[in-house]
Amino acid sequence: MVPSLSELEQIARAAGEILCDGFQNRPGYDREIQIDYKSVIDPVTEMDRRAEGFILAEIKGKYPHHHIISEESGEISGDENCSWYIDPLDGTINYAHGLPIFSISIGFELDRVMRLGVVYNPVLDECFSAELGKGAWLNGQPVRVSKTRDLRRSLLVTGFAYDRRTNPENNLAQFNRLALLVQGIRRLGSAALDLCYVAAGRLDGFWELRISQWDLAAGALIAREAGAVVTAADGSPDYFTPPCSVLVANQDLYPLILEAILNTAFT
Ligand code: IPD
Ligand code: CA
Ligand code: CA
Repeated sequence: MVPSLSELEQIARAAGEILCDGFQNRPGYDREIQIDYKSVIDPVTEMDRRAEGFILAEIKGKYPHHHIISEESGEISGDENCSWYIDPLDGTINYAHGLPIFSISIGFELDRVMRLGVVYNPVLDECFSAELGKGAWLNGQPVRVSKTRDLRRSLLVTGFAYDRRTNPENNLAQFNRLALLVQGIRRLGSAALDLCYVAAGRLDGFWELRISQWDLAAGALIAREAGAVVTAADGSPDYFTPPCSVLVANQDLYPLILEAILNTAFT
């Protein structure tokens, strides 16, 4: 038995309610949430864990034999031909600061091919979804990548890996180079939303190094189904084998961004 896209959506929406309940920036909120650190700058809040606990219980209740890869619990062994990829709260730093840019990301892979993806932003009540070969949607309406062709008119987005202080293979030099070539670069703090915003044409391209499978699973399918080119940041087709990286853009901008990335040395 395999899930439907609407099942993924229902789970993401219910997890969104949990996250909104604990969100510090809403009127009347009077409780501090518990924040722990996985590394110096990588936080996990009690709400990441609660949302994940809810999502895992839903999946295990209906699909006890499925395999699950989830950010806070790691790998839950099962039939790897039916695999779920869960980020219960993508944008934890934003969330912990009361900045309302975060999402829940759920991807479902059948026979090692990503089939279903949902990314839900509960603050804006925006649910991005996609089914392999059938299209990508925002709250049920089809989405499509932008038609921007000129790099100088393009708005990109990126993210910086948590190990950027210690790993010289980061994207800081790439950021500096692209910042001089494009109209603007944003850093929103939720990779899953970055992918969906490229899918919906709100942003023209996204790249990030050392990103995780749970960040990418749903959003990359949504972007691809919306017409984006999706590869690893060095242009190789496999963006999903760890350590993952990603470059996503419409067909016209993709080669221009890739060229800039490939021509920039790590410093
Ligand atoms: C992070 C966000 C951020 C990206 C990081 C991710 P988290 O996820 O998606 O935008 O730059 O690489 O780890 O920790 O908030 O789930
Ligand atoms: Ca994440
Ligand atoms: Ca997360």
